[in-house]
Amino acid sequence: MQLLQTRKQLAAWRQAVAGPVHFVPTMGALHPGHQQLFRRAAESVMGQRPAVVASVFVNPLQFGPAEDYERYPRDLAADAAMAEEAGVTALFAPGVEEVYPDGVAALTAIHPPQGLQQVLCGRSRPGLFDGVATVVVRLLNLVRPDRLVMGEKDWQQLVILRKVVADLGLPLWVQGCATVREPNGLAWSSRNRYLSPSELEQARALPAALEAAAQACRAGVPRAEILVGDVRASLQAAGLVVDYVELVAAQSLKSIEVVSGVALLAAAVHCGPSRLIDHTVLMSRSPIVAIDGPAGAGKSTVTRAFAQRLGLIYLDTGAMYRALTWWVQQQGVDPSDAGAVAPLLEGLDLQLSSGAGGEQQVTINGHDVTEAIRSPGVTAQVSVVAAHGCVREALTRQQQAMGERGGLVAEGRDIGTAVFPDAELKVFLTATTAERARRRALDLEQRGFAVPPLAELEAQIAERDHLDSSREVAPLLQAQDAVELITDGMAIEAVIQALVELFRDRVPEEAWTNPV
Ligand code: PAF
Repeated sequence: MQLLQTRKQLAAWRQAVAGPVHFVPTMGALHPGHQQLFRRAAESVMGQRPAVVASVFVNPLQFGPAEDYERYPRDLAADAAMAEEAGVTALFAPGVEEVYPDGVAALTAIHPPQGLQQVLCGRSRPGLFDGVATVVVRLLNLVRPDRLVMGEKDWQQLVILRKVVADLGLPLWVQGCATVREPNGLAWSSRNRYLSPSELEQARALPAALEAAAQACRAGVPRAEILVGDVRASLQAAGLVVDYVELVAAQSLKSIEVVSGVALLAAAVHCGPSRLIDHTVLMSRSPIVAIDGPAGAGKSTVTRAFAQRLGLIYLDTGAMYRALTWWVQQQGVDPSDAGAVAPLLEGLDLQLSSGAGGEQQVTINGHDVTEAIRSPGVTAQVSVVAAHGCVREALTRQQQAMGERGGLVAEGRDIGTAVFPDAELKVFLTATTAERARRRALDLEQRGFAVPPLAELEAQIAERDHLDSSREVAPLLQAQDAVELITDGMAIEAVIQALVELFRDRVPEEAWTNPV
């Protein structure tokens, strides 16, 4: 590990690095929580091992006049040893004059939106997040990383920095990592070291009260009034001085009355000489991801891999419409005749399951149609069958029942608009017609079907888009709050990575842990 103490040294080091750089800013006084961030930052991405830079800098801008700037623990030798042990490649430990060469009195500062600042910690520590944002942007400009890795423990800080990075258009991803706890449940914090053994014991009431509230929420008590009241009472009973206990929406940080979507029950207390913060993430169900987009955009391949990466169930709604189309054809029914198709929906037994190797299997009324539904014959008529109102209604109902508990990623044409309008993440995955025709040709060739000329495939795809987008019932439509991902020129792995990053921007690791 290299120790860099000046901007010049950092610039020289940075220039010599060819691959990705991941950055973990800290104020030192490192502990196992920081080490976990370093280890996570060192994980390979798409087969590439990143260089990890950590900074140790006690930032004067983020301490109030009565706060602990002067006595904040500083021990560079111990920090360097901990950083090196956890895989840091370069430790940047500058002095104040290196970070703010013109002083701090008349500095250009970053002011994140007041709406994100005037709640939780920002309310009792005015100026904190201006100071944090200003130093982090300054450090980002010096380090120029591809990824900024931060702890979810400081959730408000993470949300604010994501907003700053997005608003300033900085070309990097902000990765949040789950809180790491001491064996007694207390979240690791540099300020834990100010606590005496009896205060440490007392501080345990903070995670315990939040965990009890999380259990109450899971047991069906999602109301702020009760959850906040119970946590406050437990903290006070333990002799802790409560700064705040609040239930907020995890992204907007706005106060909420009832848990819905991803919510944060957060608290700050004074315990002896330390101010401690902690939170628990509450959700009314596990997360849902909706991936819509036109035919041939490669949705199935990436959605399946993405689902596996995050331990989500993969719901391929296109396969359900294809299976029904196959059944309609088998029964000799005219696919365009809604009146004739409707009776086939009564008592329909349509199942999606995983085969031994994890591959998807589709059965309809006892027939395994996994392969058959990919034939050009089915492809040619699926849009017609899927356009009937009775079909959409029946399959939407089945899909919603499958998603009641969440924990899934559904792929189709109307998932974000009609099936799961309250999905945590909605993506509109698309590619140009030319790119989709090229992919379709490749797919047909691999499956042993005849490959029509590309121009013909392009025309078919354009026609299919037109049918899907202009049908009266549940047309293919980009949900207003969907992220558009155009995959031309992107390798499959890059698309999956992009989806993982979008998911993680919205769903904390604490609420949905990656499978190991
Ligand atoms: O979380 C911290 O330690 C600090 O706020 C940070 C991000 C290093 C900025 O000084």
